Amino acid sequence: MKGNFAVLGLQWGDEGKGKIVNFLSDRANAACRFQGGHNAGHTLIIDGKKIVLHLLPSSICHENALSLIGKGVVISCDALFEEIKQIEPVAKNILEKLKISPACSLIQPYHILVDQLKEKSNSFNTIGTTLRGIGPTYEDKVARRAIRIIDTLSEKKLSEKLEENISYYDFWLEKYFGHSKLDFQAIKDENLKNGERLKPMLADVSAEIRKLNSENKRVLFEGAQGALLDVDQGTYPYVTSSNCSPAGIASGAGIGPHDIDYILGVVKAYVTRVGEGPLPTEIDDAIGKKIAIEGGEVGATTGRPRRCGWFDAVSVKRVIDSNSVSALCLTKMDVLDFLDEIKICVDYKFTDDAEIFSECMDLDTAQPEYISCKGWKQSIKGINKIEELPRETIDFYKKIEELCGISVDVISTAPDDAGTIMLNKSI
Ligand code: GDP
Ligand code: IMO
Ligand code: MG
Repeated sequence: MKGNFAVLGLQWGDEGKGKIVNFLSDRANAACRFQGGHNAGHTLIIDGKKIVLHLLPSSICHENALSLIGKGVVISCDALFEEIKQIEPVAKNILEKLKISPACSLIQPYHILVDQLKEKSNSFNTIGTTLRGIGPTYEDKVARRAIRIIDTLSEKKLSEKLEENISYYDFWLEKYFGHSKLDFQAIKDENLKNGERLKPMLADVSAEIRKLNSENKRVLFEGAQGALLDVDQGTYPYVTSSNCSPAGIASGAGIGPHDIDYILGVVKAYVTRVGEGPLPTEIDDAIGKKIAIEGGEVGATTGRPRRCGWFDAVSVKRVIDSNSVSALCLTKMDVLDFLDEIKICVDYKFTDDAEIFSECMDLDTAQPEYISCKGWKQSIKGINKIEELPRETIDFYKKIEELCGISVDVISTAPDDAGTIMLNKSI
């Protein structure tokens, strides 16, 4: 296969995108993050060692792949510099491979403060954010007052923008939380210092992608979060603040919608969700707890337990149909090894007008209807040949193909690369 391709989650995040992006990185010349920030936690296993990435693209450990951060990403400089330091021993020459768009919005200390104070307060509708300041930073971007990286390169421009921002936040923080005034000078100095440090990594990411493509080189776009957490397409208001579905690639990376040739939607063989919000297929009994244990379902960013549920073919089909998803990658199949029976949600019943509720992804009153598949009751962990999968496992993934209307091109049976079955060898 030629051309750019994308790997994105189609559920509520943590589908195993990091593993798959790292696995597919040798088929690309660059990987690009295009939205979100360090709310993401992408786990890779390299030479038996666990690495969790939050901001750096999951290609970073591949020597020959460039790592790009597009303008749709919101950046915490502290988190970025810390991650570079942590990853340096395993990923060589990071600073030579990493290119960041100067148009990225910067997460400021007051964004983190607002996120945390709001989540702790009783006067706001809390949703269980990662407390990283992601939402408030995107709010500033949409309100046209964000501090972008480029602003930190000019003291005059930075001062003007920061003055406006700090007076706004001082008012807001005082009114709602009785908070003391922000330290303008300290915030300004920190931004100027960060700008200097970021300078050698800055590049026109959109032009870099066009240049790579003009040389017949491929770019892999790496989604963070998942389509059901997308601010427009997800279970609003229990969502993140960016477009984490494929629609976000074009604006967040600076390419045209026709420049993505293949979109691989990553889904777990079940579902998980961290934080608040509807999860219609949630399993509230011992089976749910056992899936969480077998799947190690603890948040890679915040360490919170992930809620578990049965595979929801209705919501996945909806995001496939509204996002031109090309094929599925089905991960964590091995986690279901112990089950006699595996359920798949094939329909929802709503108490009221189904069409309206579906379009708004308002799943609060959605009553799931299930079909049942026979479990395989044996270990498939680490299997990397389709012929070695039990009949029941094949029946399960074929059923998902039938319900979702697209093919499963990749199956994952373990956290490391060894447990990966490539059904479409041309990716
Ligand atoms: P991401 O945010 O989509 O990159 O996913 P996370 O890294 O947050 O969570 C996925 C978790 O599942 C990580 O701990 C991975 O190491 C692990 N994982 C990925 N694929 C598989 C798989 O096929 N089987 C098992 N057992 N674990 C997997
Ligand atoms: P990856 O990339 C799972 C969730 C939070 C919260 C909501 C909003 O690892 O799949 P935010 O801090 O973004 O404003 O929080 O979104 N959330 C994630 N859940 N995986 C993620 O990333 C997530 N990033 C944000 O738990 O419910
Ligand atoms: Mg994650």
